[in-house]
Amino acid sequence: MTGKGKTVYRCTDCGAEHPKWAGRCDACGEWNTLAEEIAAPKQSGLGARRHSRTGAAGARESSAVVAPRLGDVTGADEPRWMSGLDEFDFVLGGGIVPGSMVLVGGEPGIGKSTLLLQVAARMQNAGHSALYISGEESPLQVKLRASRLKEPSNDVALLSETLLETILATADAMRPDVVLVDSIQTIYTSDLEGAPGNVGQVRECAARLMRFAKDTGVAVLVVGHVTKGGGIAGPKTLEHIVDTVLYFEGEGTLDHRVLRATKNRFGSVDEIGVFRMTQSGLAAVSNPSALFLGDRDDTASGSAVAALLEGTRPVLVEIQALAAKAGFGTPQRVATGFDGRRLALLLAVLDKRAGLSFGALDVFVNVAGGLRVIEPAGDLAVAAALASSTYDRALPPRSVFLGEVGLGGEIRAISQAERRIAEAARMGFTTVFLSDRSIPRRNGSRNIEITTTRTLDDLFGALFP
Ligand code: TYD
Ligand code: MG
Repeated sequence: MTGKGKTVYRCTDCGAEHPKWAGRCDACGEWNTLAEEIAAPKQSGLGARRHSRTGAAGARESSAVVAPRLGDVTGADEPRWMSGLDEFDFVLGGGIVPGSMVLVGGEPGIGKSTLLLQVAARMQNAGHSALYISGEESPLQVKLRASRLKEPSNDVALLSETLLETILATADAMRPDVVLVDSIQTIYTSDLEGAPGNVGQVRECAARLMRFAKDTGVAVLVVGHVTKGGGIAGPKTLEHIVDTVLYFEGEGTLDHRVLRATKNRFGSVDEIGVFRMTQSGLAAVSNPSALFLGDRDDTASGSAVAALLEGTRPVLVEIQALAAKAGFGTPQRVATGFDGRRLALLLAVLDKRAGLSFGALDVFVNVAGGLRVIEPAGDLAVAAALASSTYDRALPPRSVFLGEVGLGGEIRAISQAERRIAEAARMGFTTVFLSDRSIPRRNGSRNIEITTTRTLDDLFGALFP
């Protein structure tokens, strides 16, 4: 590493500047918050000057400019680039926006490198040049992965490099349409002294890649590893820098993966894309309900189906509950894919309002397929599954439960009932249970019967006479 400018350490909490690294910030007393950055405003050093055009904010010379009228700004209707990997394009809001920066986060081994390589290959085949930069793997390793994929990838440009200055210079000389960087934690700038992956390096490298994207119109896709705490790369700041943040999730043992947008400057958030990891890379799953319902046995007790809205798309999921006699000590409450406090609340409501006592029972709730139920609209299905397990009797076959459960044991209305019911009908369900306050204005399907109820007590009284 040569040509270092002056660097300082700034507290990521209070912003105080320190000349040297310390474990604790003198100003606010927080531990482990100091991150290295390039001293502002003036910047020296060879590396910095050579790349000043794409450098950090302080590196550019300032003089007055003419601010354009908003109406004179062009390019708003510039087409997006479709990778052809449908679920990926969908989550982005309809393809890659030129000049944007997208962060793809996920745990190690989930398939981030595979996803990016497939996107690179697809883009290249669709006529948009792609430069894939691997800081983690040798060209041979990348080649081995590429050879497993269905899409031909011979024309993708490949660079094994970790020095940011080299990456930017190469990208600037080649001017591909898309640059893919795997991963942000492995690259570093010689302007900072810290090791790759530390907060200062990650932030500075991301900021310069973003600058590059905006200056050149090249789209930059970056992989970020998720830390134990669940955030990308430790610094939350990284999520503020980029345009779009996608999380790639899944259960290690299952082969399907969910891509979720948590921030999107060019589209909506909370959309999901579903993939399956196959022997030859990721395959888009166009019918997620079928996947999440999987091989469900609707004659078993403790199983109910909910219709959730994942972004704009309704998805049916199976909710399983098991209430079993507790051994000794405090009974257990274990929820997978469902909020533990919400479960405690539902158990209390079932106890008080529907006469089901769980005091001596261990309770397990599981959302099949590794999906997470965040919407309150999933409450009724959880309650129904719990009641079904307690009575040890199956719920009516081919039925879906939609509703939020209130503290009074009342079943409350949900949003967009029509769309959820339409999906249930499409998947071959014949009965929908929901609140009498959310009767859909129109029932899109003749083949589905809608049963409304006011309270949990009424519902279970009818289901388990
Ligand atoms: P990888 O993309 O390396 O994950 P990440 O970059 O997120 O760490 O891939 C992870 C797993 O996917 C790996 O265990 C092997 C598996 N895999 C397949 O099952 N099929 C394939 O075609 C490929 C390329 C990988
Ligand atoms: Mg990887």
